[in-house]
Amino acid sequence: MADRLLFHLFILGSLSFSAIIISEASQCSINGLPLVRNISEIPQDNYGRGGLSHSTVAGSVLHGMKEVEVWLQTYAPGSRTPIHRHSCEEVFVVLKGSGTLYLAPSSHMKYPGNPQEFSIFPNSTFNVPVNDAHQIANTDEREDLQVLVMISRPPVKVFIYADWFMPHTASKLKFPYYWDEQCLQPPPQKDEL
Ligand SMILES: *[C@@H]1O[C@H](CO)[C@@H](O)[C@H](O)[C@H]1NC(C)=O
Ligand SMILES: *[C@@H]1O[C@H](CO)[C@@H](O)[C@H](O)[C@H]1NC(C)=O
Repeated sequence: MADRLLFHLFILGSLSFSAIIISEASQCSINGLPLVRNISEIPQDNYGRGGLSHSTVAGSVLHGMKEVEVWLQTYAPGSRTPIHRHSCEEVFVVLKGSGTLYLAPSSHMKYPGNPQEFSIFPNSTFNVPVNDAHQIANTDEREDLQVLVMISRPPVKVFIYADWFMPHTASKLKFPYYWDEQCLQPPPQKDEL
């Protein structure tokens, strides 16, 4: 009798355990999504960053992308990315609005140093070299800045700097990055970066 009760409890336990796995899988996978998707209907979030709207158009964690990842991001007037670098290639296409790219080309200094400034404008495109510290800012007072972003080697591992003179060794690794946090299970081993 007691054995049977234990058996039933065991079955109940396994059922609720699989239910949890299934609900997490459906939240964090492309299974069931149509092949052709409407960008306007892709979920967007600010991930706690004021003035940002981020959509993962095609991602490694959500969509199983292996080599590249594509994001659509909108920056409200005055908002900007943190100063950061990553060991992947990154290409921007400016869809709307204007702003400034700050780029500190990699040098042999111990910190990024004073960045070069470039104006970015509608239909402009630029790529950020691997590991160059950079920042994108919407420096316009009225219009949103909207960019399509492509990165290689996803999921992205980002090193964040408090300012341009923070030593590389003091920059902070953010991995998984905010948009992958809920779904990515980072491998247990230490990252080589
Ligand atoms: C895409 O989504 C937007 C916003 O929901 C909608 O206005 C538009 O009609 C959709 N496009 C198509 C082709 O369904
Ligand atoms: C961007 O460039 C393409 C190709 O020259 C052109 O057709 C389009 O109108 C341009 N858009 C803007 C916003 O300038």
